[in-house]
Amino acid sequence: MSHQNPVDTWVSLLVKTYKTFQPKKTTLNDIWTNCGLVVRRNKEKPLLPVKLSERKRPYGRDLLLHIPVGLSDLDFYRRYEKLCWAFNAEIELEPVNGKLLIRIMDQQLQKVIPFDLPQPPTMALPVPVGYSRAGLEWLDLAAAPHFLVAGTPGSGKSNLLHCLCAALYGIADIRIIDLKRLEFSYLRQHGVTVAATEKEAARVLLDLNHEMDRRLAVLEAAGVVKVQDYDGNMPFIVCIIDELAELQDDTCHSLLNRLLRLARACGISIVAATQRPSTAIISGDSRAQFAARLCYRVADEVNSRMVLGETCSRAAYLPTVPGRAILRWDKTREVQTMFLPVAEARKRLYERCPSPPEAPGIA
Ligand SMILES: Nc1ncnc2c1ncn2[C@@H]1O[C@H](COP(=O)(O)OP(=O)(O)OP(=O)(O)O)[C@@H](O)[C@H]1O
Ligand SMILES: [Mg+2]
Repeated sequence: MSHQNPVDTWVSLLVKTYKTFQPKKTTLNDIWTNCGLVVRRNKEKPLLPVKLSERKRPYGRDLLLHIPVGLSDLDFYRRYEKLCWAFNAEIELEPVNGKLLIRIMDQQLQKVIPFDLPQPPTMALPVPVGYSRAGLEWLDLAAAPHFLVAGTPGSGKSNLLHCLCAALYGIADIRIIDLKRLEFSYLRQHGVTVAATEKEAARVLLDLNHEMDRRLAVLEAAGVVKVQDYDGNMPFIVCIIDELAELQDDTCHSLLNRLLRLARACGISIVAATQRPSTAIISGDSRAQFAARLCYRVADEVNSRMVLGETCSRAAYLPTVPGRAILRWDKTREVQTMFLPVAEARKRLYERCPSPPEAPGIA
């Protein structure tokens, strides 16, 4: 008579169980139920969203849904972040003829994308921000003149500002306030005003205020409400501020706030980067003037919402990849900003402009 060792019996039982074990696949209905997207009425069968079609896309797939009576698009928007977790992807919601399209973007973003400047789209002042899963995202600084960039140290803010300078050089009049003093000095040799002290910063901001007043008077006299409608010569001016927190002088703050409130119509943009988006650095009212925002990884959900708005905590959960951020403008998308090391930025400028004009000193 053969006696099987009890350990062997257990092992064979475990192997058998393991072989037959199939992890339950999450169905769409599980997702709707887990996210609370179900209508329950007394005794009736619960109603769930119905998938009408599914299409493969380069970024993942598109799902077209019929929404049952008792639910609306708004219920999906309110559960946006839950749905992202449930699909394990970045998603976009778009109402289409009474139905709802869910764009499920589950492709990985590249970790390093070297700077390149493809043919810009037809916008008045296009700047490339970075690659989302849907392709290169451009921002029109004429339509969204003020652009706020936030993120923890080393997340990629200054690098993005170098990319913007490379894209704007020769197209707009660039003025830089770099109170960290080192990074942007190479632009001085190319005719760009770079303020490196608070005194110089105050001068730059004062000049911009004067220019704004002059332009507002010209536009008023011409009877137009924005620079794009003006026939004469009024080039775009972009003032880039690297590290807003370093700008502590009250005069600078009031000059900057005035520009944020009034400059949008007259072709003057403010692009400001900061490690600390708190109200101590930039008041709620001034922050509201930034129509476009880019938030790299931040410490927590509060900081993410401070930059991207009440409903967006996503920047707290971004991977710790330099250059990875959430762009909020016409859409809210995860992007990888392009990489342009300073040496490369300098080289590109010399190639474009070998004997550049020296920047005028700041009086
Ligand atoms: N888009 C990018 N792709 C790949 N690497 C990047 C990217 N942006 C930045 N880096 C890397 O991260 C480093 C820090 O970037 P950067 O100086 O722009 O950060 P920062 O946000 O300005 O930091 P700080 O707040 O300290 O000024 C860079 O030296 C570079 O090595
Ligand atoms: Mg920096």
